[in-house]
Amino acid sequence: MLQKPRGTRDFLPDEMEQRREIEGRMREIGRRWGYREICTPEFEELELFTIRSGEGIIQEMYVFEDKGGRMMALRPELTAPVLRMYVNEGKNLPKPLRWYYFADCFRYERPQKGRYRQFWQFGVELIGVDSALAEAEIILLAEEILSTTGISFSIHVGHLALMRSMLSGVSEPEQRIIRKFLDKKDFDGLADHLSQKGMQDLYNSLTRLASSRNLQEVFAITGDLPERERIEELFSILDQSGIPYTLDPAIARGLDYYTGMVFEIFANNLGTENQVLGGGTYRLAHLFGGEDTPSCGFAIGFDRVMVSRGDQGPPRRLIAGIAHTPEGRDWALTVARTLRAAGIRTELDLSGRSIGQQLSRISKSADYALIIGERENTTQMVTVKELLSGVQKQLTLPDAVREVNVSEPR
Ligand code: HAM
Repeated sequence: MLQKPRGTRDFLPDEMEQRREIEGRMREIGRRWGYREICTPEFEELELFTIRSGEGIIQEMYVFEDKGGRMMALRPELTAPVLRMYVNEGKNLPKPLRWYYFADCFRYERPQKGRYRQFWQFGVELIGVDSALAEAEIILLAEEILSTTGISFSIHVGHLALMRSMLSGVSEPEQRIIRKFLDKKDFDGLADHLSQKGMQDLYNSLTRLASSRNLQEVFAITGDLPERERIEELFSILDQSGIPYTLDPAIARGLDYYTGMVFEIFANNLGTENQVLGGGTYRLAHLFGGEDTPSCGFAIGFDRVMVSRGDQGPPRRLIAGIAHTPEGRDWALTVARTLRAAGIRTELDLSGRSIGQQLSRISKSADYALIIGERENTTQMVTVKELLSGVQKQLTLPDAVREVNVSEPR
């Protein structure tokens, strides 16, 4: 038997209904904040992602050569494609641009619960504005979207300038290695690495900074920074807004395009793959041939949100099943059409079996059975059976619609 590719999933209707429901809630919050949907191709020229996305992503990409000999990649994320699109199509639009997407991404990772090779992101990009208020908007929007999904989560906010200030004089690739140890809270690994490089004197200040949880303490370690006012303004907006968050100077992010504020959100009930959101401030447009444009955004790992929610019980039921005899077929089709036009979820039995057999199947999934035989066909009436109580009524079609309509959940 052929199987689906490793790290991918099939979704049966019960699961798809739950996914669509949550996706819809996310879209609705985006809409209320003025964000509008965009769409980019599933594959792009490889170069788009090798310019600045970082080693981690490059290692995990699905890369292929097309028939014209061009190197292409399935998108591992959408920030680079969205900024490419901005440079191509959107640079003359009035700014700031508020865009969102719900799209699948591909990364060749080792699959496990919450980590897949095809996964979906709900993301937003706020393009063309450079301020603490814009950064705060992104964090507050992330909080509101995740709240609407019903999961329990913790927000961690940092700023790259903090660690950078401690590492001035250290080469950029070396900084990246050090920041990765701090991000993973691998302090033993960091100690080994620093001593190998003859930089052990950095260990104490770096780990103290990584563990600091308030701004005063942070600036006592880093000293004054050019970004200090901006960072203080951001955190003061977050404090005013009342959302719970943790200041976390160790956040490094796995992508290389971030320039300032960075943030990550973790689901409280998940294990290793608990990061449900990542984002921050970045600059990419100038690398794709546009003007240098400040931007910020985030992407939610939609599948991890669904794992965190767990199975939320039985999905919406079928409302009406129509059992019919061959003589009743044409009237049954009219009845089905009328119920559907009224917004009622209606299924016509297709088995051609006896009415008794049809009813026993319908009673497994529906709230009402509508029975249509020769008599109903002649009188243009409908026999409506409420399946829970067993109560049966002969009704005109408009009355049948009214009777059934009350139980359709909206
Ligand atoms: P990212 O942190 O690489 O950031 O991905 C965002 C989220 O996608 C992660 O927090 C995680 O929840 C989810 N995710 C990543 N890999 C997988 C996987 N293999 N399986 C399931 N979920 C996964 C970005 O992609 C940036 N483009 C975010 C951004 C937007 N920054 C600014 N704007």
